Amino acid sequence: MKCLAILKGDGIGPEVVDAALSLVPNLAEYFNISTVSEAGLEYYERTGQLLSDTSRQAIIRADYLLLGAYTTPPKRAEGCKSMIGYLRTEFDLGVNVRPFKSVDGISAKSFDLVLFRENTEDLYYQRQYMRDEQTAVGEKVITRNATERITVAAFNYARANQKRLITIVTKANVLTLVDGFFREVAEQTLAKLSIEYQYDVRVRHCIVDAAAYSLVKEPEKFEIILTSNLYGDILSDVLAGMMGSLGLCPSVNLGPTKTLFEPIHGSAPDIAGKGIANPTGAILSLANLLRYGNQLLLAESIERAVNATLSTGFRTPDLGGTCDSLAYTQEVKRRLIAP
Ligand code: IPM
Ligand code: MG
Repeated sequence: MKCLAILKGDGIGPEVVDAALSLVPNLAEYFNISTVSEAGLEYYERTGQLLSDTSRQAIIRADYLLLGAYTTPPKRAEGCKSMIGYLRTEFDLGVNVRPFKSVDGISAKSFDLVLFRENTEDLYYQRQYMRDEQTAVGEKVITRNATERITVAAFNYARANQKRLITIVTKANVLTLVDGFFREVAEQTLAKLSIEYQYDVRVRHCIVDAAAYSLVKEPEKFEIILTSNLYGDILSDVLAGMMGSLGLCPSVNLGPTKTLFEPIHGSAPDIAGKGIANPTGAILSLANLLRYGNQLLLAESIERAVNATLSTGFRTPDLGGTCDSLAYTQEVKRRLIAP
């Protein structure tokens, strides 16, 4: 049986993960579960460490990670990352897949696209230093390997889902060298894969600011977005806004030995503990985990139950509704049991 480590995190993390877990009380029948609790902001403030050795070992043993959200420690010691940044680099989770499918009656426009975000380098590589007292420098790193890896993932997804349009997003008009390299490697890789697999894709290039504009104006014109770390981070939130709320969106982080499932929102300390967080992103992340664990039918019924709940107007305050997290989750559960 595959090992699952549950990292609830802090802020609204534990609330949304608990809401999701309450939908599948028999999860332990599908995975060998451990819970990682010695981590997060409170642990960091107490110990100066992101996580304990016991927690690290539990993560190392796991095949799958289900994560809520972790607050990035404020003013940190040199080299200390956010928890999610640590996990992505430590376990080489280089491929971040973020689907955005509009929900009728909620989303601003109608669209169905998937964003592939390189997850380990770019400005997130954290080569930052003070050149002198007046000058802070942050290096942007783009490698052939990581760019090829995210491109292969985007192409494989296109092929498996009969999608043809891949939009590469960079700022290659200004960052001619680094972003030009990302664009060139992505284009070459796609051309090679198209021939190898006899599967034609239409490759389009879009500058990131224009991409942000088009995603708001005409998101239906995108199928697959292929981009580097920071642009992917920012465009994710643009798309979450188009969806209607950050709380709606799940994501998958893929690496050679582990897969991490998480909602794309942060720990939202301002609403933590109030019982009003939207658990949809966490619930859909759990559905994705179940799909990876070969529980396809259950994954699909959860997704259907969420859609039905949202479209009948049960909504948390981030969507303008009056449901609290519990009432919303119970409604999803009711539809799961008796669809
Ligand atoms: C995300 C988040 C993270 C990121 C933060 C929490 C470090 O915004 O996953 O989109 O910037 O990647
Ligand atoms: Mg983000």
